[in-house]
Amino acid sequence: MCGIIGYVGNKDVTSVLMAGLWKLEYRGYDSAGIAVISDGELVVKKSCGRLMKLQELLDKEPVSGNVGIGHTRWATHGEPSDQNAHPQVDCKGKIAVVHNGIIENYYSLKEKLIKEKHIFKSNTDTEVIAHLVEKYMKGNLFEAVRKAVQELEGSYAIAVISEDEPDRIVAVRKGSPLVIGLGKDENLLASDIPAMLGHTRKMVILSDGDMAVLTREKVEIFNEKGERIEREITTIPWDLEELDRGEYPHFMLKEIHEQPEVIRKNIKLKLKNGKIDFGEAFNFEPRDFVNVGRIIIQACGTSWHAGYVGKYLLEELARVHTEVDISSEFRYRNPVVSGETLVIAISQSGETADTLAGLREAKAKFLRVLSVVNVVGSTIARESDGVIYIHAGPEIGVASTKAYTAQLFSLYLFSLYLARIKWTLDEEEVRRRLDEVKKIPELMERILEREEEIKKIAKRFYRAKNFMFLGRGINYPSALEGALKLKEISYIHATGYPAGEMKHGPIALIDKKTPVVAIAPASSVYEKMLNNIEEVKARGGRVIAIATEGDRKIKRLADYVFYIPEVPEELSPMLVALPLQLLAYHIAVLNGRDVDKPRNLAKSVTVE
Ligand code: AGP
Repeated sequence: MCGIIGYVGNKDVTSVLMAGLWKLEYRGYDSAGIAVISDGELVVKKSCGRLMKLQELLDKEPVSGNVGIGHTRWATHGEPSDQNAHPQVDCKGKIAVVHNGIIENYYSLKEKLIKEKHIFKSNTDTEVIAHLVEKYMKGNLFEAVRKAVQELEGSYAIAVISEDEPDRIVAVRKGSPLVIGLGKDENLLASDIPAMLGHTRKMVILSDGDMAVLTREKVEIFNEKGERIEREITTIPWDLEELDRGEYPHFMLKEIHEQPEVIRKNIKLKLKNGKIDFGEAFNFEPRDFVNVGRIIIQACGTSWHAGYVGKYLLEELARVHTEVDISSEFRYRNPVVSGETLVIAISQSGETADTLAGLREAKAKFLRVLSVVNVVGSTIARESDGVIYIHAGPEIGVASTKAYTAQLFSLYLFSLYLARIKWTLDEEEVRRRLDEVKKIPELMERILEREEEIKKIAKRFYRAKNFMFLGRGINYPSALEGALKLKEISYIHATGYPAGEMKHGPIALIDKKTPVVAIAPASSVYEKMLNNIEEVKARGGRVIAIATEGDRKIKRLADYVFYIPEVPEELSPMLVALPLQLLAYHIAVLNGRDVDKPRNLAKSVTVE
């Protein structure tokens, strides 16, 4: 997704903008640019390709000033090119706009503006905004922007600067995230928090419809009618070094290794004197769940896989009927629901467009929504009736790792919390399980210490063109997640399948060139998994098994075995995830992939 940064203050704006864009790079992009008010003139520098190309352009043609906006573009309308890169400008080159989102009615607006003699230079949707502001610019940039956005349909976060009002940035948020950073004699804005953490931790997370005017001295926020409003200031708990790779070659590897600490932090925050405490953002009481007869979990990608594990946990432990929907399906299927239906939205970023739309669909049906989210104050968190924060810290790698296991941890606790309310587990049984779950960080560390074993397996199979991941029961979603991790960072085709389904078709894919990862820890379906491994071997397939320490039987069957420590079945997905993440990571590295910024992907998909 596109990244936006804006600065007004007394520092050299070009350095601030470029540093911010580097921090936003992980969001995925194909071109980048900045616009600066330099000696009273608007100067735009932009280029297709990676940020390094923009940096080289700025080294050749430096530009200085104290007010400016920057952008990394993830193309939606108009191919990646210098001309289509943002900022986009008006006819006279006096107004510059950066935009994240999609203007759905841009074509009709563009036709109308061309009839009014506006000259367009790009084939982006964004450029219409610059010309609309120009059209309404009558000496007041805020009013011009306010009138311009009233003609827009779609989702957008925009920032605008103009030569005519060189001391300010005007910003609008509708459907795509935008955060204000409050500094001393300086103020910033960005698509999300990491870009500004080097300057301030005091942030204002704009709501849909909000407009903001930033000058060096102050930030004023207005609603769509142009009336002044106040917004809460959030102090971000993250430290700058969390945004740094440290000694790791990639953020993804760092975040894989952070998982034990993340779970320890969650244990500390959520388990107090043997009681489960989701914090004040939870905003629910036990009585709110007494009549919950059905749960619908809706999410995307890895978060959907976490929700799928959540289904097994909620049904097994709390005996509550639970469905899991992919958000882009949920939002359009007009689900049959009743007042006793609870919707759970799971999202690391808290900004995923489809999951946000699913939440709004649930609210439109007067359903209560509990969200499981990482980013504090994100849109999904703010629009939910209650939030369980997963406290995973900033997750920079596009492939979700530590957020996934943190989601699983929170879903496990919520299942136990609900089991107490539903009386499906007694106090003693819940306490025993809480003692079990406290061992997870140490068990994770025992796995991560053996990364070299996974690296060896990766070396053996990184040239494969197809992979299959098989799992059963609560580890069927683990198979889906292992396949997604591999395909999204290595670009190798991988399919995750319920192992019992193999003979209904996928077994035709088995040959010695298609490695099969069989997730077979000690469990109620272990013997069934052995049979599936036999089926694969009987057809010449090669098997990489994830099994429980001490399991000698599987060693006789599988070509490679990676052992995980013994753990109760319902906790096994939290451990199984680690070797699958490491396998995907090392295969991608061996294939020379851009692990943290895989092609075509963005960290947070804020457009439909
Ligand atoms: C997972 O590795 C991917 N990056 C992607 O599937 C991601 O899980 C999905 O886009 C959902 O993102 P969210 O958790 O921020 O809503």
